[in-house]
Amino acid sequence: MSRFVSRPSARVALVVPLFLMLAVCGVYAWQEGGNPELADQMSVMRRSMRGLRRSIDKPEMNAKSIEMVVAMQDATQKAKAMEPTKAKGMEGAKKTKFVAEYRAEMIDLQKVLLDFERHLVKGDNKKARKVYDGLKDIQSKAHEKFQN
Ligand code: HEM
Repeated sequence: MSRFVSRPSARVALVVPLFLMLAVCGVYAWQEGGNPELADQMSVMRRSMRGLRRSIDKPEMNAKSIEMVVAMQDATQKAKAMEPTKAKGMEGAKKTKFVAEYRAEMIDLQKVLLDFERHLVKGDNKKARKVYDGLKDIQSKAHEKFQN
């Protein structure tokens, strides 16, 4: 066996299929696990929402809250230009419509996040709390429609 493996042609015969197998597994994992760049932006959203849960009702923490809302705005701006994994299984007009609806939803979220920031900048924590509560609903409806 070791003599066989030491022959260059035998090494190629072993390494090439192994490499192909790993490449196929990688593509499969990416499709199954979703779009990693979009997932990264969504993780920013999740982290910020968790942080805001602790800070949103505390006016003395408004500077920190604003930072987290701006991080969400930034993540939304980036995510807006991406494609959800679900779009990969679509073609033609159906795909175009789906991606446009996704982008429109992200634009709506950007508007909400600007209002959210404005309330905090003005020190209106009651209004900011209302926006925060509404975000959970926006999230679950959007995920129902756009997540795999
Ligand atoms: C506060 C609002 C939101 C939060 C906290 C949030 C959070 C998350 C989290 C934690 C994930 C899982 C990421 C992972 O796989 O590691 C996710 C996935 C996803 N979210 Fe959101 N999300 C929000 C709003 C939205 C909105 C408004 C949309 C659509 C316009 C959206 C579209 C998606 C999609 C498409 C995925 C799956 C990623 C893929 O397709 O590969 N999310 N989100």
